[in-house]
Order: sequence, then structure tokens, then C-alpha cells
Amino acid sequence: MKAGGRLAVDGGEPVRSEPMPSRGLMTAAERAAVMQLFDEAIAEGTAFGYSGPRERQFEADFAEFMGGGFADGVNSGSNAVYCALGALRLDALAEVIVPAVTDPGGIMPVPLLGCVPVVADTDGEGFNTSAEQIEPLITQRTRAIVVAHIMGEPADMDPIMELARAHDLYVVEDCAQSHGARYKGRLVGTIGHIASFSTMFGKHFTTGGQGGIVYTRDEELHWEGRRFADRGKPFNLDAEANVRAGLNCNLNEIGATIGSVQLKRLPQMIERRRKIGEAVKEALAECGAVRIGGQAPGTECSYWYLRVRLNLEALRVGKQQFCRALAAEGIPNLPDYPTAVSEAPWFRDKAVFGNSGFPWDCSDYDGPRDPQSCSENAMRSLQENIPLPLHENYGPQEAEDIITALRKLEAAYLH
Ligand SMILES: Cc1ncc(COP(=O)(O)O)c(C=O)c1O
Repeated sequence: MKAGGRLAVDGGEPVRSEPMPSRGLMTAAERAAVMQLFDEAIAEGTAFGYSGPRERQFEADFAEFMGGGFADGVNSGSNAVYCALGALRLDALAEVIVPAVTDPGGIMPVPLLGCVPVVADTDGEGFNTSAEQIEPLITQRTRAIVVAHIMGEPADMDPIMELARAHDLYVVEDCAQSHGARYKGRLVGTIGHIASFSTMFGKHFTTGGQGGIVYTRDEELHWEGRRFADRGKPFNLDAEANVRAGLNCNLNEIGATIGSVQLKRLPQMIERRRKIGEAVKEALAECGAVRIGGQAPGTECSYWYLRVRLNLEALRVGKQQFCRALAAEGIPNLPDYPTAVSEAPWFRDKAVFGNSGFPWDCSDYDGPRDPQSCSENAMRSLQENIPLPLHENYGPQEAEDIITALRKLEAAYLH
């Protein structure tokens, strides 16, 4: 560790010259399990498909990880949000409140279902929204709220659920970035009515390149979601043919096989992320200008990325320069991630169904024609917060290097 002194960006010695450890997310265990799938298919002269025994096992394994309930493997986190919303059978033109800072795949399903996304601002601290931001947006047309737990930090769910109960609204928890995070002892995804997870390769665990899971403890919502995710097949119904319109969002046997192997390691992977995140949080607690920002009460974060908050008033550089200096110290960071939904051209231009402007411009919709977005806090939080990559192969040395580099920059850049 080389701390203090001239910043690396100014020609000094960097805190860390080794690259950060790689994830090594794929192991011989995943390969062996997939090879066995191939061996069985070759021996039987069949092709492995989807919705087969491996997927059923993966879904059972995931439900067990969640402490019960029902899981449906799908082919992406975006489609997990789509199918979770599809399970709710919302009427067209219903308003759905969505978070200001999330992945586009966490919001685009709303207009694609013919519903109107209404963007709730962040809580003024990090990237998550809050009941305070959601409440003024509720109208007669609101039917659901999508709450994303961004960067592995749970949103403050109790006030959101209270609000939802008072207004008879569904809550979809988007857990794409927060596998295994807890809020007041409860796993995220078990608090709202239904939840979505992404298992794309950059997430806490993966089903291969892409994948997702729809999870709920409500059996009827589970069957609706499953029907919606597979062209409306009449699962668990006494019907001859397809009962709903839906797309084919199925996972497949290879992805499910990989997912089941990974799930065995997931608790340990989450614990390691948590250890690093908490070590940095604790070490920076006394820092005035560079610290891990406030988190909702009673949360145990699973740190997809580590969100570092800058007090820009106390520093004489902006975020971009701080990020460059941090990278020069050997600490990778993402200065331009995440982004605000309302700033994207597709949202501003209502580019969903050709040039129709649907759903906003539909004559049957009596809400505002301009896409609604409250994102003042969000824009500020994007200026103030820096995501640092973090994963299960980071150890005490990586935590120490992050802490040393952040302290070094703070000392150098304080007014
Ligand atoms: C909060 C959130 N929702 C949805 C998605 C979409 O997931 P996917 O990339 O698996 O489609 C992501 C992806 O990062 C996400 O972070």
C-alpha cells in the first residue's frame, strides 16, 4: 500500500498498481454440470429444451434461497420485470410509478404493456426512490409501483408498502442489482407482491450470458406470471389453449443448469461482497467529503457496486476529475453509470409504438401528454455518487486499497 503524497494523476505513485482480481465466475463445476446435460441428451438422442427438469430444479433452488415462495426462470432481467408486471394483468393506460435511476430494462416494460410510466425521484441520498417521492405521484389512474433496489442497497420498503396498501396498489420489487440484500431482516423480493431478478453475467450470480427470475410468494400471481412468460399457456388452468397474449420469455436448460450450480455459492458470494462494502463504509464513516452515502434503516446491503458519495461543496474538484484521479490510483470506477430514465431520448420522445406517442398521447388517457418525471434529486445524486466495481474475489487488500485511495483523494482535494 502506498498512501499519501502526490496523487498518481499528478505523477505520484499509485495506491495500487496490480489490477483488481478477476471474478472467475465460471468454474469447473458449471462446466461439469453442463457437460452432463449434453451427455444425457446425446445418450437419449434428444435435445434439451426449456421448462425441463433442470429449470424446475433451478426454480426450486431459487425459491429455497428466498425462504419459500415461487420462482419462474426467464431469459433476462428486463423480461423478468415485463413478466412480473404481466402477472398483474394491468389495464392499458394504467399508470405505473417507476424509479428515476435504474436500467432502461426496468422501465421499458411499462409502456410496452400499454401502461404509462411515471417517474419518481430518488430519496436525495442515493439512487433509490422513497415513499415521500412516490406519494405525490399517485392518481386515480395509478395501479402499481416498481421499486428498484439499486447497487444492492435496499429501498426503504415499509413506508412504500404502507402507501401501497392505503391506495390499493401493487408493488413490484426490481431486485436485478440486489440479490440477497435484506431490509429489516427480510430478503428483498419477499416484501412486495412480486419481484424480478436479473441473472445476466455481471450480476451477483448468473444463468450464463443472460437470464432472469420472476419471484413471488403469491401462488396465483406466480401462475399468471408463468402464463404470461410463455405465450399465455394455460398453466394450472383447465383450458385447452392459450388464455392470454404474451411472448416467449422462457429460460432454457443450459442456463438453469449453470444457475443451480451458482446458487450453491451465492450466499458466500454475497457475504464476501458485504464484508468489503461494510469495511469501506466503516473506515470512511469519519470522512466528511468522501464516504458511503446514507442507506435505508435496517438494511444489509449486497453491494452490486459500492456507491461512494462525494460532498462536492467540500471538494475543489468535480466528480469527473475525482473519478479520473481514483482510476489513476488503481481503483476502477464508473463515472457515467447509472443514468436517469427521463434523460433518455426514447422516454422524452415517447418512442415506443412508432410515432403514435402511445400510451401518453392516446385519446383515452386523461393524464399529462408529456412523460412525467421528477428527477431533480436523481440528477444531483448522479453528480455526487460514484459506483466502484466490487465482487466476491475482492479481499482485505482490495478493501484497504479502496479506503487508502479515497482518503488520499479526500485529503488532496478538500478546500
Ligand atoms: C435495476 C435493473 N432492472 C432491470 C435490469 C435489466 O436486466 P437485464 O440486463 O438482465 O435485462 C437491470 C440490468 O442491469 C437492472 O439493473
